[in-house]
Amino acid sequence: MSNAPTEEKVLFVEHFTDRLFRFEISRPSSFRFRSGEFIMIGLPAEEGQKRPIMRAYSVASPSWDDKLEFYSIKVPDGPLTSKLQKIQEGDTVLLGRKPVGTLVLDALLPGKRLYMFSTGTGIAPFASLIRDPETYERYDEVILTHTCRQKAELSYGLRLVNDLKNDPLVGEMVDGKLLHVASLTREDYPLKGRITTLIETGELFKNAGTPTLNPQEDRVMICGSKDMIDDTAKLVESFGLKEGSNSQPAEFVVEKSFVG
Ligand code: A2P
Repeated sequence: MSNAPTEEKVLFVEHFTDRLFRFEISRPSSFRFRSGEFIMIGLPAEEGQKRPIMRAYSVASPSWDDKLEFYSIKVPDGPLTSKLQKIQEGDTVLLGRKPVGTLVLDALLPGKRLYMFSTGTGIAPFASLIRDPETYERYDEVILTHTCRQKAELSYGLRLVNDLKNDPLVGEMVDGKLLHVASLTREDYPLKGRITTLIETGELFKNAGTPTLNPQEDRVMICGSKDMIDDTAKLVESFGLKEGSNSQPAEFVVEKSFVG
């Protein structure tokens, strides 16, 4: 079988801010992935370009969906996103063939509570996982945190979680089980501060009505910039949680969200 990416059609594009947009593409029937995994995405090579520029993107749609959704940053001089942000319905996007990643339910040991800590576009893999019934079958409580600089950057996540209540598949499962904690760092908002600060001060747990992180009950997934991941992982480790992987499930997992 060829390893070359498949050519998919753009089905929908929505812009949130001058830095953020989401798009949906067709999904080949042979494309299988686990909710939370990422895949290479690109645009067909232009004239004079040897090969297409491809970047890793978390799939934001759940594994049962018949289309694929992605949530992306726009970088004005980014090799891919400067062009990708201009795609329109009907255009072609290249899709890699091998989804991979560690933000998957199988990389965590069973637990009571699942925390998903995200910043910026790092919410994408969790957009997939919170729409997957298996997440609620495995955990009693699911706490999704999303921290951004400004209010407009929270829109995608706020709407997603709100719409879930009417979702035919997980609507009833999320009721009372899924908690969305949104915070801002550079604009006024009811909850202010970086996720690391909210954990350190205990404000997160007060807000969520949960006990302080503990390795017996809690499992954690972290997705954001490299600095955010490093700092949050260190903090989570200080509560006694150990990092897991697909081959060795443990108490927390991390993945860098796409940049550039
Ligand atoms: P801040 O505004 O204090 O930098 P970015 O767009 O730079 O990825 O940031 C997205 C969010 O992540 C912002 O709210 C930002 O806070 C926060 N953030 C940036 N670096 C870290 C870090 N090392 N630990 C925790 N949160 C971070």
